[in-house]
Amino acid sequence: MTDDRKLGFDTLQIHAGAKPDPATGARQVPIYQTTAYVFRDAEHAARLFNLEEVGYIYSRLTNPTVQALADRVAALEGGAGAVCCSSGHAAQIMALFPLMGPGRNIVASTRLYGGTITQFSQTIKRFGWSAKFVDFDDPAAIEAAVDDDTRAIFCETIANPGGVITDLDAVAEVANRVGLPLIVDNTTATPWLCRPIEHGATLVVHSATKYLTGNGTVTGGVIVDSGKFDWSASDKFPSLSAPEPAYHGLVFHKALGPMAYTFHSIAVGLRDLGMTMNPQGAHYTLMGIETLSLRMARHVENAKKIAAWLEADPRVDHVTYAGLPSSPWHDRVARICPKGAGALFTFAIKGGYDACVRLVDSLHLFSHVANLGDTRSLVIHSASTTHRQLTPEQQVAAGAAPNVVRLSIGIEDADDLIADLDQALAKATA
Ligand SMILES: Cc1ncc(COP(=O)(O)O)c(C=O)c1O
Repeated sequence: MTDDRKLGFDTLQIHAGAKPDPATGARQVPIYQTTAYVFRDAEHAARLFNLEEVGYIYSRLTNPTVQALADRVAALEGGAGAVCCSSGHAAQIMALFPLMGPGRNIVASTRLYGGTITQFSQTIKRFGWSAKFVDFDDPAAIEAAVDDDTRAIFCETIANPGGVITDLDAVAEVANRVGLPLIVDNTTATPWLCRPIEHGATLVVHSATKYLTGNGTVTGGVIVDSGKFDWSASDKFPSLSAPEPAYHGLVFHKALGPMAYTFHSIAVGLRDLGMTMNPQGAHYTLMGIETLSLRMARHVENAKKIAAWLEADPRVDHVTYAGLPSSPWHDRVARICPKGAGALFTFAIKGGYDACVRLVDSLHLFSHVANLGDTRSLVIHSASTTHRQLTPEQQVAAGAAPNVVRLSIGIEDADDLIADLDQALAKATA
């Protein structure tokens, strides 16, 4: 959808998907706050509705501001196309929608954002879908969990909350061998730290709510399609490889090739599920992405300093940051996230659950919120909040044990953040 692919990341994050506005010359992407678009004539309208011509019909489907964001994220991830959604959670349902049907399942990592574990273990059951959770450090276990009804494999690049890096190459090898698409949630890494398609991912999903927007102002999501999966290689994906009854018999893969998934997600997914991003949200996210590489570099620099400081502190039991040489996942950093292990990790306090709660209540610069990927530093006690709906076993498997606190390190002065943690640890462990 963009011809800008040869430009560097820092150039693409500012220019991809955006041209001076053809109507006014406006340099910044305008917020096209409109529901509908006037057809040139009846023939034009018919061509648009038949997908014979690409253009704007109605903002539940497409909108120029939202499309600029989709094209920008597709360019940054190295994908063929992208679709924006109303939230990261919406992007996950939308990503699965063309692949699934009643009785079908996905194989997912045990290390996921708690809300995703709930979405996959509870809510999708209402559609007749299900998920099997396995340890993604064990490729044989992933393969053993795949059965005839499995339609996708799902993991996070840098898993929330523990900051554990998934060996995407090993997982993609399994997905390839069993002929299934690999969906990677790249929210916590962002395409600046990792481009999962280069490691074999079929689809990349994002909560744009986090680092892409970067300042805690938007709820949004994006799905990027690599355009590389052969949807017609088996009869497992009829929405893409067989005549689509909800689109007058169109065979998406035959008609649209590498753009089949993207067009299906717009023409059927957004049309009928309506999980659409609004143009204001897209505009804020476009503004955020312009500085993504600069922010991520600082997030990582601060996270490294703070994780090392915490690890050396006797009041701390352990720190999960994969950027620390002591981490069992440290040797994956160079291969999967060569610019750094992100800025999200957990640490366990001597003193357990009660000490964690006291720490959270004693911090001043860190905000106690259910969010991550903001310019400001954030803290949460996952076991009593985001991962509260999980069983104790699921909490431990997800890296959200009761004695653990999650930090999302911002881009403030690292020394100020360390001083804040120091005084709060003193109160927590007194
Ligand atoms: C890794 C990850 N994926 C997806 C989501 C869901 O995103 P949203 O809150 O935008 O629906 C979150 C939210 O915290 C997340 O951390």
